[in-house]
Amino acid sequence: MVPDKLLLTTPNPIEERLEALREFFPEAFKEGKLDLETFKQLLGEKVETGRERYGLSWAGKAEAIRAVQIPSSGTLRPRRDQSVGFDTSENVIIEGDNLEVLKLLQQAYHGKVKLIYIDPPYNTGNDFVYPDDFREGVRQYLRFTGQLSEDGVRLTTAPEEGGRIHSRWLSMMYPRLQLARSLLRDDGVIFVSIDDHELHNLRAIMDEIFGEENFLATVLWQKKYAPSNDTTDFSYTHDYLLSYVKSRRFNEQGKAVATLKRMERTEEQNRLYKNPDNDPRGPWMSDNYTCNKTSEQRPNLYYPIIHPKTGKEIWPSRTAVWRYSRERHEQNVREGRVWWGLNQENETPRYKRYLSEVAGVVADTWWEHTDVGHTDEAKKEFKSLFGEDADAFDTPKPVRLLKRLLQLSTEPDAGDIVLDFFAGSGTLGQAVLEMNQEDGGNRRFVLVQLPEPTRNPNYPTISSVTRGRVQKAAERIRSGDEKSAVRLLEPDGQDLGFRAFSLDTSNFKLWDGEAEDIQGQLEALVDNLVEGRTQEDVLFELLLKAGLPLSSRIQKKELEGQKVYSVAEGQLLVCLERPIRAETLRAMMALEPKPLQVVCLDVAFVGGDALKTNIALEMRDRGIRFRTV
Ligand SMILES: C[S@@+](CC[C@H](N)C(=O)[O-])C[C@H]1O[C@@H](n2cnc3c(N)ncnc32)[C@H](O)[C@@H]1O
Repeated sequence: MVPDKLLLTTPNPIEERLEALREFFPEAFKEGKLDLETFKQLLGEKVETGRERYGLSWAGKAEAIRAVQIPSSGTLRPRRDQSVGFDTSENVIIEGDNLEVLKLLQQAYHGKVKLIYIDPPYNTGNDFVYPDDFREGVRQYLRFTGQLSEDGVRLTTAPEEGGRIHSRWLSMMYPRLQLARSLLRDDGVIFVSIDDHELHNLRAIMDEIFGEENFLATVLWQKKYAPSNDTTDFSYTHDYLLSYVKSRRFNEQGKAVATLKRMERTEEQNRLYKNPDNDPRGPWMSDNYTCNKTSEQRPNLYYPIIHPKTGKEIWPSRTAVWRYSRERHEQNVREGRVWWGLNQENETPRYKRYLSEVAGVVADTWWEHTDVGHTDEAKKEFKSLFGEDADAFDTPKPVRLLKRLLQLSTEPDAGDIVLDFFAGSGTLGQAVLEMNQEDGGNRRFVLVQLPEPTRNPNYPTISSVTRGRVQKAAERIRSGDEKSAVRLLEPDGQDLGFRAFSLDTSNFKLWDGEAEDIQGQLEALVDNLVEGRTQEDVLFELLLKAGLPLSSRIQKKELEGQKVYSVAEGQLLVCLERPIRAETLRAMMALEPKPLQVVCLDVAFVGGDALKTNIALEMRDRGIRFRTV
């Protein structure tokens, strides 16, 4: 028996979906492949066969769909020098192209993210759109960002290539949204900022990727507090936020179960509750006693109620029957919740709803700048952190806007992970730190940002701005700076740091299927580690490929005189020593708690095939997944 090899490229996400199909339609699979003809027969009338069909199509769509399946051969290298509290923080900031990064995150973050917020380029013609070449992957990224010598940085704004401006944008967004979806938890939510340039197209691809039934709303955010008079016809004062849940839940009656949390009530909303009858239970508001069902639909809710003063029978209308059953109405009477006016002068009853019993308010779809900030406020916030360097970033969102998203879709203390893979200046990172500070929460963030050049020498790339902003926001919280509107809790114990990573090619030499010098490749692969990479680089590549998050705790141990990394409280053990000794391997197996996975280098066993076989058997017997790389 030989140990399995740890796969160094990212898995094809199609496999997982095929597996789901195989579970329900085993007959449609022939020799491991989906037989479309049989599949169509099994589905019968449910298959759309007409030549004309509903859906959005654009030049390059097929390639964009395939882009998701092209594996990434990259890795995320830890950058201690760019991090704050690397060993303790569970927040993550990644520098790189988000398509590659999202692929690399697939195993470790699959189904784990509670909230995704993105604010992608709006495709206004002036914003920058990264020129994807799906087949080139990380190499294209390195060349493009000047990290490979060939042609250095070629920064362009999105040129109108033969009228394909929408197509290019859609091809950029489609694979990223597909990959993002699989990172969401089932109750996870995505919000995407956009304006009228691409709202219609974004809605169409989001419907396709997330499913129309998972659409929550298109929120309008009032981004400006005053119209500008220098526009042609309209002054645009709002942006949109498109929102979807990964998977809508329904109760037994088929009614959608709420996904978003309610918002805290404002003073203004509370003022609607009064107490004209000095009810000891406190302020209340009267509510409808009828509902919008007919007597045919709900015969049990069509019955007479006796007026307490006149003794007359009061019937509801046949088209709007009582809201409560007879039994519930009698209980309402006993509890003094039926309101007929101060002197019982009203002809119909109303229900007394007490302020002490009402939950928060349901969010509406119109978000005013007075509640969530505007673009000027966002720029001021950025300037208050960056001062003279404020020219390093032009288009931040207000912190209050992102706090609202956190409020609606995360729990303070459940360790929720939030992701922004078009992070820009990292406003979401600041919002998470401040919200955690305000409510003692432990939300964690993952931010991804391309090292797009700026014109500021102190912050030469936008990714350096992202890191800089989070660091400055944390310092402000730590020092309790007055400029911060944050109500300060004791900052002890709050995670105010982040682990920084950067996208690069794998730490392992990969087989190049197109190379001609096969002998040379074989020799090079005997020792398959790329020169110049550190043990920590390798460790994080293995950790991610083994499906553990980038925030995992790492402890160094010494077993039988060799160094072993224990990841995520011992779930994964990695030993990069070579040659590795039998005693070390057995000591790893004997550790408590028992490791779930063990990974070592293949070259650590050179000339020791018998040892490799024996250890593989022993690990299997102990239920430990043993792999080499
Ligand atoms: C509108 S900004 C986001 C602003 C952010 N919400 C804030 O408050 O600061 C969009 C960002 O996406 C980045 N971006 C564009 N293409 C990218 C890609 N392929 N990978 C990662 N980031 C990208 C741009 O560099 C830009 O900083």
